[in-house]
Amino acid sequence: MNEDQKKTQIELAAKKMSGEKDYSQYFQTTYEPPSLKQAKKRGKENVEIHYDFDIPENMKEIGYGKKFLIRTYGCQMNEHDSENMAGILMNMGFESTTDTEDADVILINTCAIRENAENKVFGEIGHLKQLKQDNPGLVIGVCGCMSQEESVVNRILEKHQQVDLIFGTHNIHRLPELLENALFSKEVVMEVWSKEGDIIENMPRARKGHFQAWVNIMYGCDKFCTYCIVPYTRGKERSRRPEDIIEEVRHLTRNGYKEITLLGQNVNAYGKDLEDIQYGLGDLMDDIRKIDIPRVRFTTSHPRDFDDHLIEVLAKGGNLVEHIHLPVQSGSNDVLKRMARKYTRESYVDLAARIKKAIPHASFTTDIIVGFPNETEEQFEETLSLVREMEYDSCFTYIYSARDGTPAARMEDNVPHDVKRERLARLNKLVNDLSAEKNKAYDGQVVEVLVEGKSKKDPEVLSGRTRTNKLVNFRAPEDAVGTLVHVKITEAKTWSLNGEVVTPAGVE
Ligand code: 5AD
Ligand code: SF4
Repeated sequence: MNEDQKKTQIELAAKKMSGEKDYSQYFQTTYEPPSLKQAKKRGKENVEIHYDFDIPENMKEIGYGKKFLIRTYGCQMNEHDSENMAGILMNMGFESTTDTEDADVILINTCAIRENAENKVFGEIGHLKQLKQDNPGLVIGVCGCMSQEESVVNRILEKHQQVDLIFGTHNIHRLPELLENALFSKEVVMEVWSKEGDIIENMPRARKGHFQAWVNIMYGCDKFCTYCIVPYTRGKERSRRPEDIIEEVRHLTRNGYKEITLLGQNVNAYGKDLEDIQYGLGDLMDDIRKIDIPRVRFTTSHPRDFDDHLIEVLAKGGNLVEHIHLPVQSGSNDVLKRMARKYTRESYVDLAARIKKAIPHASFTTDIIVGFPNETEEQFEETLSLVREMEYDSCFTYIYSARDGTPAARMEDNVPHDVKRERLARLNKLVNDLSAEKNKAYDGQVVEVLVEGKSKKDPEVLSGRTRTNKLVNFRAPEDAVGTLVHVKITEAKTWSLNGEVVTPAGVE
């Protein structure tokens, strides 16, 4: 494109954003709808890694003087995707804002894991209708896991004409072109690839944190637990090359980051798809252990793939912190089987025992679903007894939510919703009692805390986390934020610990 054409496009975009609409004759609208059925297929073709991401010349200045806002729902993976989208938009000249009224582009990065997550998103989309009427130049985009579902996309197309752009989890790197289309088209622009997806290495990134960072190690999931939508919304398992991950961690270390969290939907499957090398999560952690960053976390683990080599490496400690998040989902073998978790209660407990033996001070957390289709009272009680046996530090607990297109959604379910709610309440009571009990053991101990910021409840108080991921509140000058300090615990509560700073960490 020559300079004149570029100028014309930038002028057209500016007009469109100021409310003038009919520029569709200049541009092609993309239409690629999602298909959960297609997303279920796992092809044999190799994953391609792209190192050549670039923003087209004509879009590099399109955002000057304009602002964007990204609203993120769901897991850390989504948070991290939003950092990529923010990076792309900033490289197009946009600035970020937290005020919807001020925004020229609003992206809603959605989560599909449970129905209530989806309801929140539809509430938000509904609220934006008035804003779009007042400001027709505003571009509203919906992305993330919900846009991979055809039912969601159809509902948006039918009922939410304020949405200009829909794109999927595999299409993030296409944001510049998609935004260009959305700016110049009257029609809704949609591009949702349901195939497996490649790896795009060099997307720009605007990280939210200055001392804590997410690092993707793999994408997708091949486990197909019967309740879960993720394998459909995130595609097949594909691992980043170790050298790319290690370079990213080194870069973060050079830039003063104190803590990284290695991310993947099923991190224990890391490396299985790397055909030219035998290299798994244990190997990766062992290499990252040697990098001079104070703390390394990882999430989320699947018990089935958690191997002895990883345990051996984690036991070396150093920057590998003593916190294991190991989702169990249920304590009943029958329910685990129907969930297709591919482990038993006994093998899970055995794995946990091996981890505890190797890392005696590790904290354990988990995810549990209650009210899976046809779960009996006895089966639920097996979950309670497992929670007691495991003595979890904390648990994320959920009522089962049927997800269209998954096998569990086709199972009969004879458990009434109020029974599920009552089970959740009983489970939460047990979980909280255990958390309080576990926290008591910290009373009087001195712990290392990475100071994260002001406490949400009291701005005079700072809060941070121990290596075991316990939330600690204490008084300290604000400039302690982003540093490691030693705190003596003076009071243990159910969900947090209170304490006093004894020495800045590193000062012996
Ligand atoms: N219903 C309820 N909870 C779910 N999770 C995943 N899918 C569902 C569902 N359909 C929970 C699991 C998972 C966590 C991230 O969300 O416990 O580990
Ligand atoms: Fe939600 Fe799962 Fe998608 Fe994360 S991967 S946003 S938890 S549906």
